[in-house]
Amino acid sequence: MKTTREKLEELKRLKAEAALGGGVRRIEAQHKKGKLTARERLDLLLDPDTFHETDMLVTSRTTDFVADGQRVLGDGVVTGYGKIDGRLVYVFSQDFTVFGGSLAEAHAEKICKIMDLAMKNGAPVIGLNDSGGARIQEGVVSLGAYADIFLRNTLASGVIPQISAIMGPCAGGAVYSPAITDFIFMVEGASHMFVTGPNVVKTVTHEEVTFDQLGGATIHNATSGVAHFASPSEAECLRQIRTLLSYLPSNNVDDPPLEESTDPISRTADELDEIIPDNPNRPYDMKTILRAVLDSGVFFEVQEQWARNIIIGFGRLGGRVVGLVAQQPNVLAGVLDINSSDKAARFVRFCDCFNIPLVTFVDVPGFLPGVAQEHGGIIRHGAKLLYAYCEATVPKVTVITRKAYGGAYDVMSSKHVRGDINYAWPTAEIAVMGVDGAVNIIFKDEIEHADDPEARRQELVADYQEKFANPYVAAARGYVDEVIEPRHTRERLIAALDMLKNKRDSNPPKKHGNIPL
Ligand code: HXC
Repeated sequence: MKTTREKLEELKRLKAEAALGGGVRRIEAQHKKGKLTARERLDLLLDPDTFHETDMLVTSRTTDFVADGQRVLGDGVVTGYGKIDGRLVYVFSQDFTVFGGSLAEAHAEKICKIMDLAMKNGAPVIGLNDSGGARIQEGVVSLGAYADIFLRNTLASGVIPQISAIMGPCAGGAVYSPAITDFIFMVEGASHMFVTGPNVVKTVTHEEVTFDQLGGATIHNATSGVAHFASPSEAECLRQIRTLLSYLPSNNVDDPPLEESTDPISRTADELDEIIPDNPNRPYDMKTILRAVLDSGVFFEVQEQWARNIIIGFGRLGGRVVGLVAQQPNVLAGVLDINSSDKAARFVRFCDCFNIPLVTFVDVPGFLPGVAQEHGGIIRHGAKLLYAYCEATVPKVTVITRKAYGGAYDVMSSKHVRGDINYAWPTAEIAVMGVDGAVNIIFKDEIEHADDPEARRQELVADYQEKFANPYVAAARGYVDEVIEPRHTRERLIAALDMLKNKRDSNPPKKHGNIPL
């Protein structure tokens, strides 16, 4: 019979053993690779001394291929809850020192438990992934365990923010849990995501590719669009997660955190009066505009490296969080194409799920023409963005800085798709298409038969420009609520958002819509 003291000692011993995961040797191996352990990562992610661990003493129940001494307390994942900037979050952090962080029955049960708690209590879930995938020793049980997580990811989507950081390998079907979550963070040189690894790729398609080339942080941030953030180090990655959370509500019935703004609401940005070049074909940097209007010039960009012709991200206006969507005239003239439509559509839907007002800056020459785009399904992809803006019921405020042509005008949070307040700058050109294209089509015969075709063409261009390439036709119809001086944009946006702060709008009752996927 153990004494009370011995029982206390036993508890301490068990906890110390669990804290060591796969043991000192494997912790050293993890450090040698330049990687932190599961617990060290949580220390950096969470506010100091706020972490409460759950299921520290859970072990695997399998006996196949696993000797008794190999059953590790905690089963390869550290789970629990803690705080970020004083706000509750739920976390799981896979421990690579235990069976390579591989996922099995007990490991998954721990993750599911904290996901269920997060749903019941309305707080974000952050998963730090570092795993060799399904634990081979547990076979099909591991596959079922993954599906238990996928289902919870899906049911939690739009209810609580879900954030995934990939801190090591994440391969095979395992990628689909992060893929369903709202944001994926990756660490350069350390994280990899792929459905099939380089060896399988070589066998099946004879392509030779390295881990990094196939599914490293740069590839998924700049090429595939799977990830949203890339960081040079784990510490920076964890810091970025904290920053992202500062813009998000805890759940879909909460509002995002309001901050006192130290930046005066009525601050003008005089430089904006000069930013649009006289030549409509000359680019400029839309990010200059975003920084000029946002509180203290702080813009937190999402998916910075992918589909750079559209910009998405978070900022604050008068202390209130907004989601920003803006064309980037500096890249492909800000045209809408397959990737930029996908990128912005998912962001618009995220903001709408989580009560984050949308501020849209428009300078769009239209959809990108070309066989590759048409055959790649620009119709289907462009429809996603249109659908996302149409269904969004959060406050929607739009500023047309220059071009708003064709279908892209409708798509970009126009009045017709329930834009609440639509501003235009005097430099706006709202028309069916660009001036040259329009004149060449509607006056083709007249130009061909003129004595001096080029002179006539130029006359017609000037005429068309005067009549249509301006914001006033739209303003006369009320499609634009006000044509504003660029320097006053910040003040106008803050006033509009304040006016819309109690906005209530809804969509017809339905099971769910059928967004073109
Ligand atoms: C059990 C695993 C494991 C796994 C790694 N380990 N992966 N144990 N199941 N899936 C163990 C290793 O045996 C080793 O144990 C320890 O973890 C570290 O592994 P190393 O190979 O030494 O590390 P490293 O060289 O860094 O390589 C990491 C790795 C590699 C790239 C992840 O281990 C690997 O390729 N593992 C197999 C990955 C895989 O094929 N998984 C199944 C994918 S299919 P010791 O005792 O030596 O420390 C899948 C389907 C999911 O996941 C479907 C969901 C629907």
